Amino acid sequence: MRLWHLFLEASLAAAQLYQQQAQTPLQYSTPCALLAALFPEQVVNPGEEGYAHAQEKYWSIQQAELIPACRFLPRGARDIQIALADVIHPSNASIAISSGGHSSVTGASNIDDGITFDLSDMSGVNVGDMEETVVLGPGARWRDVYRTLQKQNLTVSGGRVGSVGVGGYVLGGGFSWFANQYGWTCDTIIEFEVVTPQGEILWVNAGHHEDLFWALKGSLGAFGIVTKIKMPTLPNTVVYGGALSYEQPHFPLVCNALKNLAARAEDDLTTQGYLSFAWLQAEKRFEYDVYLINTEGQSSHEALAAFEAIPHLGGQLSTTTIGKSADDIDRSNPLGFRRFKFTLTSTLSPSAMTAVHDVVKTFTENTKFDPTGVVGVTFQPLTSSHLKAQKNIFNLIPSHGPLLLISVELWWNDADRDIYFSGKANKLQHDLEATLKKLDAFHPFIYPNYASREQNPFATLDPVTMRMLAATKRKYDPNDRWSKIVPGSTYLN
Ligand SMILES: Cc1cc2nc3c(=O)[nH]c(=O)nc-3n(C[C@H](O)[C@H](O)[C@H](O)COP(=O)(O)OP(=O)(O)OC[C@H]3O[C@@H](n4cnc5c(N)ncnc54)[C@H](O)[C@@H]3O)c2cc1C
Ligand SMILES: *[C@@H]1O[C@H](CO)[C@@H](O)[C@H](O)[C@H]1NC(C)=O
Ligand SMILES: *[C@@H]1O[C@H](CO)[C@@H](O)[C@H](O)[C@H]1NC(C)=O
Repeated sequence: MRLWHLFLEASLAAAQLYQQQAQTPLQYSTPCALLAALFPEQVVNPGEEGYAHAQEKYWSIQQAELIPACRFLPRGARDIQIALADVIHPSNASIAISSGGHSSVTGASNIDDGITFDLSDMSGVNVGDMEETVVLGPGARWRDVYRTLQKQNLTVSGGRVGSVGVGGYVLGGGFSWFANQYGWTCDTIIEFEVVTPQGEILWVNAGHHEDLFWALKGSLGAFGIVTKIKMPTLPNTVVYGGALSYEQPHFPLVCNALKNLAARAEDDLTTQGYLSFAWLQAEKRFEYDVYLINTEGQSSHEALAAFEAIPHLGGQLSTTTIGKSADDIDRSNPLGFRRFKFTLTSTLSPSAMTAVHDVVKTFTENTKFDPTGVVGVTFQPLTSSHLKAQKNIFNLIPSHGPLLLISVELWWNDADRDIYFSGKANKLQHDLEATLKKLDAFHPFIYPNYASREQNPFATLDPVTMRMLAATKRKYDPNDRWSKIVPGSTYLN
């Protein structure tokens, strides 16, 4: 009922416009021109104010360099519904959807010639249900979410880096400081508002459209455009943590401490950490860092003490907040590079970690980096408690844990070397896979939020999950419109 009503209104709005201007839709020379007529002030063309600024916000320069014919700034689900029904479907225009623009996949959230649906004006943070839940707009950044919630001594199980967007992060899984307690961020979601590929606006939850509710959790936008996300708040004032940096000789000790941290997660859900190492061409050296958080704010904690006991170069742990920590980590993740990222999963063992390190070390010796180039690797334990808390399409088996989520990212500057570095990255991925397989440590899981274009996160899901996803896809996108309209998104074939 309501849906028809909206469609009708949308078509009427469009029809009135044509009449007023004595025009037929064909007289709008381009889909962007029609969109601008329907949504004055919400369409920006190249050269207009705001276009360049929006383009500069992408995490990777390759995405910033794609030139959409226009950027559309919807203010809610209804704007998206109207745009799909009246502009996109009739003209067969291609679109990209951008929440925070932090994907490393070129074309995932921006598009040459097509229309980028830029959700940055849909960034509400609205606390409700007696402060027990919050409804987030997908275009919010985690730093804004934390800033708003902190005023009420609340937080959420969200991103660890302030500038990352809510939309992509949640739909691709979401690895938070609270993962031991609540699993992936997508597991905690209570309700989504989504515009389906057919143009329906649906509220989906455990009782309504349960199939779509489940399918949205980990499929990175393959089932429509999510326009609101409702999740539980967590009472939280302070946490304890920060970064510690080490030198190469102590790397094996740090790997061991990380393994122990994950092993004790069953008994202590509140302490988490990850380990990063990176080759910095500018300084011609490797850097080794752990980032640790105790979410209860406990400073004298055994799990943290184990890392502090290993000789470290610098850094310190202190009382902070989830929001401040997200700002801190942001500072070590500057914009302005060309990038390639891929992911691997392994069993969690110090020998797998040192083997990965050795392969990357050899890689650095055989690679001609740009002067400020970087190759960075991050190890994140997927603890058994994290895996037990899952409600998503990944279907990872808790008894297979703890696992190690590995992400690898290359940074460079010279556009002429894109092919060189993506080729290098693919070769590195292949070498790392072979090494992990040889150690019998390889796990097929592909974490969507870290996957490269070449890595299909659906490819390694189990057959039962795939059948359920395919059925859900047939139900909500029966004409397979999504893969034609959103060429850069992750989708089921
Ligand atoms: C510096 C940095 C730190 C990170 N830290 C973490 C971390 O702590 N934990 C973690 O799990 N991941 C982390 N990531 C990975 C991050 O979660 C993913 O890159 C995520 O997809 C980015 O979301 P976004 O909205 O910013 O990106 P976008 O580039 O805007 O979107 C990513 C993908 O999701 C789709 N999408 C976005 N919004 C919607 C929507 N509303 N409806 C449908 N589809 C949509 C896009 O089309 C695109 O394919 C980090 C990435 C970076 C660069
Ligand atoms: C859109 O695509 C369909 C199917 O491919 C085609 O029939 C139709 O003519 C196209 N419309 C426009 C405006 O290009
Ligand atoms: C938040 O917590 C602090 C410290 O416990 C307290 O002083 C403050 O009054 C609280 N603020 C709100 C809005 O509850």
